[in-house]
Parts: sequence; C-alpha cells; structure tokens
Amino acid sequence: MDKFVINGGKPLRGEVTLGGAKNVALKLFVACILSDEPFVIRNVPAIRDGEIMLDVLKSLGIMVKNDRFSHAVEIQNGHANQFQVPLDAGARLRTSSMVIGPLLARYGRAMIPNPGGCRIGARPIDRHIDALKQMGASIQYHSQDGYFYAEAPGGLRGTTYTFPKNSHTGTETVILAAVLAKGTTVIKNAAEEVEVDELIGLLTRMGANIRRSAPRQITILGVPGLRGADYTIMPDRNEEVTFAAAAALTGGEITVIGSQREHLTAFLKVFSAAGGGYEAIDKAKTRFFRRRELTAVDILTRPHPGFMTDWQAPWGVLMTQAAGVSTIHESVFENRFSYADELKKMGAKIEYFNPEVTNPAAYYNFNWEDHKPGDYHAIRITGPTKLHNAVLTMTDLRAGATLVLAALAADGQSVIHGVEQIDRGYEHIEDRLHALGANIERVKEEV
Ligand code: EPU
Repeated sequence: MDKFVINGGKPLRGEVTLGGAKNVALKLFVACILSDEPFVIRNVPAIRDGEIMLDVLKSLGIMVKNDRFSHAVEIQNGHANQFQVPLDAGARLRTSSMVIGPLLARYGRAMIPNPGGCRIGARPIDRHIDALKQMGASIQYHSQDGYFYAEAPGGLRGTTYTFPKNSHTGTETVILAAVLAKGTTVIKNAAEEVEVDELIGLLTRMGANIRRSAPRQITILGVPGLRGADYTIMPDRNEEVTFAAAAALTGGEITVIGSQREHLTAFLKVFSAAGGGYEAIDKAKTRFFRRRELTAVDILTRPHPGFMTDWQAPWGVLMTQAAGVSTIHESVFENRFSYADELKKMGAKIEYFNPEVTNPAAYYNFNWEDHKPGDYHAIRITGPTKLHNAVLTMTDLRAGATLVLAALAADGQSVIHGVEQIDRGYEHIEDRLHALGANIERVKEEV
C-alpha cells in the first residue's frame, strides 16, 4: 500500500510520452488465447491491470514472458490446461471475464467469476452472456460460488446479435468468440471505440475476417484457425486527456508525444470552449496549455464518438477552476462521481443532482435497474474556487488521476491514499509528473 505526498501550486511544463493503451493491452492478451503460435505484443504499459490479466493467462497454462523494461510481452498458448479464471483475479479485474469467448471457441468450456474491477457501479455482463448464449453456448450462473459455468461442446456458431445498449467490452467479447465460430456473425449496435478497432487490427493480422460493415455494425466470418502475430499497441488517449487537463489546470504547458487528436475530437471541442488551448506540433505531438481564464462548459458523457466517461473525472477538477456553473451528466455508468466528495474536502463547490430524463431506462447506458435511490447521475460545479490541500483517498482509477491533478493544482501539501488504484492504469505516473516539474513523492504506507 502506497500513498502520494504532493506539494501543489506549481505549473507543470515539459514533454511527456504516452504509454500504451490499457484498454487495448488487456484485450490483445485475451486474443492470444485464440492461436497456438507465438505472439509479441509491444508498447505494453507496465500497469497493475495488465499484470493481473497476464497472471490469468498463466493460470490457464499459457506461456507469458513479460519484459517490463522493453514494454514487450511474448505470449504462446498451446499448453492451456485450465479453463477457470481464479476468483481473486475476477474480483480485481472485470476484464478477466473476457477469456470466456476464446476459451469457449477453442476448448468448448470456461468458468469465469462474476466480474469485479473498478468500483464504478455494478458493471454486470448480462449483454455479453446473452450474446454468447445466442451463439450456442450454454451458460449457468451458480450463486453459491459466484461463477458462470459455460459450455459449447459442439463449438460456437455465427449469429446476428443486436446489443440492446452499447457495450465496449461486450462488443469485443462477441468478436473474440466469433472469429473461430462456424458461419457469419453480425453485431448490431456495436461499440465504435477506437480501442475496439485495435483489437480488430490484431485479429485481422492473425487471419480473422472482420469488417465494420455499416455504422455501428460489425460482420465476422468465422475461420478454422488463426496465426500468431507481432503487434504494437496504440498510445493511451485517456492519458492524453489527463495531461491536457493537468496543463490547463496548473497554468503550465505540456507537450504530449504519441498524441492522437483524431480520437479526441469530443474532448478538444469542449477543452477549447472552456479556454484550454492546444497546438498541433506534428501528427503525433500536441502542446496543451491554458489560453485564457477558464469558463464553465456543460458536458454529457456518451459512448464514442461522444465525450467519454473516462474523461469526466479530470474534466470535473478542471471545472472547479472555471468561472461560472458547469454540469457533468454521466450517462454511461451509474456511479462515477466518487471523486466529487474528495474534491469538496479541498474547497470545491459541487452539488449532486438528477437531471430530468423522460425515459431513463432507454436513455442511460447502464441498466436502469442498477440505479439505487440516492444514486446521482450528474454534478453541478460552481467555480472558480481556490483548492487547498487535503488528505484524500482514491476509489477508482480515473478518480485517482483526478485527485492527483487536484493536489498538483492546490496550495500546500496533500496526501493521497490508495495509490494502487492509479497503478492499475498509469505507468509510474509520479515519475512522469516529476519530470514535468511536479513535487510528488510515493511513500510506503505503514501496515
Ligand atoms: N453494462 C451492463 N451489462 C452489460 C454490459 C455493460 O449493464 O452486459 C453496463 C455497464 O455496467 C456500464 C454500461 O453498461 O454501466 C456501459 O458499459 P460498457 O460495457 O460499454 O463498458 P465496459 O466495456 O465495461 C469499457 C472500458 C471502460 C470505459 C468504457 C466506456 C475496458 C476494460 N473498460 O468498459 O474503461 O469507461 O468501456 O468506453 O475497456 C477505465 O479504463 O477506467 C474504464 C472503466
């Protein structure tokens, strides 16, 4: 258990290189189960969630060589002899349940625990399970041990599956199951996140037949077998947003290497409207700064190409420094404002509220039944307020990054507990912030 001690109030300046995208790395590891040939996955971020996923592969009997220094991971299946994801991994990493697709496709059986992961709401996988059942899998949930027992002794078969609501990892789960299924699978209302296209990119290199056949539609023709591949993961656009927010928040300027402006359109639009600035230095290099005093802008989170839910927490801290009243309406997850109470401890003026929505069951991306009385789906921030130091606790990954930003902007010394949350998705964040001039130190907690 570690904590961060941060002395804030300094503008951050300099260059930073983005790590490989967490939400690509985890799925590429899963895809490696689909072939017995060797894989090399490059630009792998050295993050906790990646390690957990690689441990899951090892627990299935798959060979994994992880060279953290060169950010390359070698994976080779051929020895899988276990078909059960350990309970502990399931509780710690929701994405570990995604091995269900490849295991069913290749071995006709899988046991996955009811997934945990970030504490941002219930996050069930009912849509994933429905789709796999429609592909011929028989899946039972045993509440006694918290496992899904899945079987497809005759193999999986292609189907047309319409997602009742967008699901990023749901879409990926169906793709991972369909590439080796008999016949053609058509996914309707498929997720459009660029991270999904990276998975399609690796699978295509492996010999899979996948195309985006219409808006929000993916067609997969099953093939009898797949090859190994060498693939380099794209940079993490969620990190880019974090550094852009850090530059504007602290009044500094940060040049991001590995920038992908083409995948940040929704963010860059509101960032500019709020007074943030950016300069395109070249295709993969962007300088972020504050153009003028920040002003309030309202946002609504939506699946791609909307403003991503992963960006709203860093946006929230930026808005504490903006003149006026801004709102953030979270429509993807039912519970993603855990950072707001922590920011209030630093002097931020934030109120929770529930916007009027005519048909919430259709409007929200989470299952409306997961809404509990007392859950709020929006916050109202009144700014600007000078943030002061505080003792804070990270509750999830993006909230963790947000608290670090807030402490960097605040006057005085802050202490942030629960650093393992940020370690799930940002590689050595303190070293990279330090290189930008931040006064941040990682300290081992007394146990
Ligand atoms: N949902 C269900 N049932 C399902 C599937 C989803 O109720 O079967 C709900 C979820 O609980 C959520 C909403 O529907 O409220 C949307 O979920 P989606 O499936 O799209 O999200 P996800 O696949 O679980 C991925 C990323 C998230 C990112 C979202 C949105 C990974 C490993 N996770 O989650 O990333 O916020 O898509 O793009 O790719 C993060 O990196 O911190 C993170 C949470």
